[in-house]
Amino acid sequence: MSLKRLCLYTHRYSLALVMMLVLVTATTDVSGPRVNITAVLGHTATFKCPNLKGGFVPRLYIQRDLTFINGFNSRKLTILPEYQNRTKVNQDDLSMEMMNVSVSDEGLYHCIIYYGSETNPTLSKPFPEIYLKVTAKYSVPTIEKECTERQDGDAGKSCRLGCSSTGGYPQSAVKWAELDLSLISVIHNESSEDLSSKTWTVNQTITYNCDHPTNVSCAVDDSVSPTITICETESFPVEVITAIAFVLVFVLLLLLVLLVMKYCYRRCQNENEGDYENADVPLADCHSQLKSV
Ligand SMILES: *[C@@H]1O[C@H](CO)[C@@H](O)[C@H](O)[C@H]1NC(C)=O
Ligand SMILES: *[C@@H]1O[C@H](CO)[C@@H](O)[C@H](O)[C@H]1NC(C)=O
Ligand SMILES: *[C@@H]1O[C@H](CO)[C@@H](O)[C@H](O)[C@H]1NC(C)=O
Ligand SMILES: *[C@@H]1O[C@H](CO)[C@@H](O)[C@H](O)[C@H]1NC(C)=O
Ligand SMILES: *[C@@H]1O[C@H](CO)[C@@H](O)[C@H](O)[C@H]1NC(C)=O
Ligand SMILES: *[C@@H]1O[C@H](CO)[C@@H](O)[C@H](O)[C@H]1NC(C)=O
Repeated sequence: MSLKRLCLYTHRYSLALVMMLVLVTATTDVSGPRVNITAVLGHTATFKCPNLKGGFVPRLYIQRDLTFINGFNSRKLTILPEYQNRTKVNQDDLSMEMMNVSVSDEGLYHCIIYYGSETNPTLSKPFPEIYLKVTAKYSVPTIEKECTERQDGDAGKSCRLGCSSTGGYPQSAVKWAELDLSLISVIHNESSEDLSSKTWTVNQTITYNCDHPTNVSCAVDDSVSPTITICETESFPVEVITAIAFVLVFVLLLLLVLLVMKYCYRRCQNENEGDYENADVPLADCHSQLKSV
């Protein structure tokens, strides 16, 4: 089939167009200059077809593998429901915006460009290629520690460290900053894909022995966890500090009680002395009463 007839067909039957484009790509293995673009999951990607010949472009079809995505010609094109409200073509700069990009949009796209006039368009080969790469940022990893005395009797501690992050793409692995890689032993390493969003959750648990304070954080891709300290020095553990505080408070209370007692004792003595003087009469009374008995 000649290109001219192909054009005639595509001009007449929008639906048949999809089939025609399939034929074009399948039978002519021509790929032009390749551009790589990146989009963040859920954001917008802009595919810009290069105007290689610099002339007027009466038609543009953008397709992915064997599927027509969007484009323009002199009449209304039939666009798959999946792309109807999600893609928008700019006729002036031969670009297409794709909104709410998902991981499944990742792949190779072709620009099928026609030059010439609307009445006499000619297909231009090779077809420029655009590769869309999708990324999704991993959540800030959570980091957990659980340290115990070492079983083998050596000084220091044995820590179990867990790190987990989710919602990222492409798949990535947990990395431990500040740790001596040769001393890490991985006891659990998990990577799972969310079937609908195609994003990844990664989860790793390691054990690490250390005998001096070590700051540690973990990273997945470019997301970094908060820093925690493991193997802190034991010179003043919390219990000791609490005990010291307890003793101090006790001593202070004791001093206070002693002071109060001393003060009271003085006062009581003074009062008693006064009482003696006042008590003279009743005492004398007492004596007189005793005498009178
Ligand atoms: C696009 O990516 C492919 C594969 O990763 C690479 O071979 C090619 O050189 C890249 N093209 C440009 C223009 O960077
Ligand atoms: C696209 O948007 C129009 C108008 O908002 C709506 O009627 C149509 O159903 C949408 N198509 C798809 C495939 O969602
Ligand atoms: C974006 O696409 C996802 C599926 O890929 C869908 O669940 C979500 O509702 C879409 N968001 C918008 C704003 O269209
Ligand atoms: C953990 O699993 C991931 C994905 O399966 C893999 O890429 C990585 O090399 C593994 N790491 C270790 C230390 O086994
Ligand atoms: C990581 O994996 C361990 C072992 O399967 C599991 O106990 C833990 O809940 C996981 N953590 C997260 C955040 O998924
Ligand atoms: C760990 O971090 C703390 C607080 O950021 C800092 O004071 C300390 O010097 C660090 N320790 C080491 C061993 O780097």
